[in-house]
Amino acid sequence: MKLLHIDSSARAISISRRLTAQFVEAWKRNHPGGDVIYRDLATTTIPAVTDDWAATFADPATLTPVQKAYLSISDELTAELQAADTIVIGSPMYNYSISAPLKAWLDQIVRMGKTFAIGAGAPFGLLGDKKTMVITTRGGVYGPDSPTAALDFQEPYLRAILGFIGVSDLTFLHVERQLKPEAEIEFAAAAAQINELAK
Ligand SMILES: Cc1cc2nc3c(=O)[nH]c(=O)nc-3n(C[C@H](O)[C@H](O)[C@H](O)COP(=O)(O)O)c2cc1C
Repeated sequence: MKLLHIDSSARAISISRRLTAQFVEAWKRNHPGGDVIYRDLATTTIPAVTDDWAATFADPATLTPVQKAYLSISDELTAELQAADTIVIGSPMYNYSISAPLKAWLDQIVRMGKTFAIGAGAPFGLLGDKKTMVITTRGGVYGPDSPTAALDFQEPYLRAILGFIGVSDLTFLHVERQLKPEAEIEFAAAAAQINELAK
């Protein structure tokens, strides 16, 4: 069994990092002998997609050495994802959405022929049975009954793009109010659920 552990907070001491680390420890206890692949997106240099990205739609057998070098980071990140049975993603909310490093990672792993394909004129995801847990951290509150619910572009976006590549077993744990006095209570409530979620 393999777990892919992804952090995307800019902060070394971050709530999402603390909770993904707790998830990993619980997962290791539940899966003795399992492997963990760690990808810290705050310290991974991921280039922006450029015009050369067109190479991802070419026949792999025709790629030049320059094109292969260009795609090497995408190949590496995509292989980590393909190898995983379980994925845990720490996602702080930045400006109502995800952090830039997580978006850069997504741009590299949404790969024609590797994580999605086209059939009968429509795209379909290739990742299939990967149990995926997204732990979001937010300063405010965006639950369905809150006045700011419509400003949550984080969960809907992640659901859409992970669904596009075939991830259907997707669970969100939202840790809200992290810039409010109730921050510690919210954190403790989330931490109490992690062991069960890491089964
Ligand atoms: C650049 C930036 C933008 C943020 N934007 C939002 C936001 O739009 N909504 C919100 O509720 N909190 C926002 N926050 C607060 C963070 O979501 C909150 O502090 C969260 O705990 C950060 O995750 P971390 O503790 O894992 O670093 C923002 C924080 C930063 C640094």
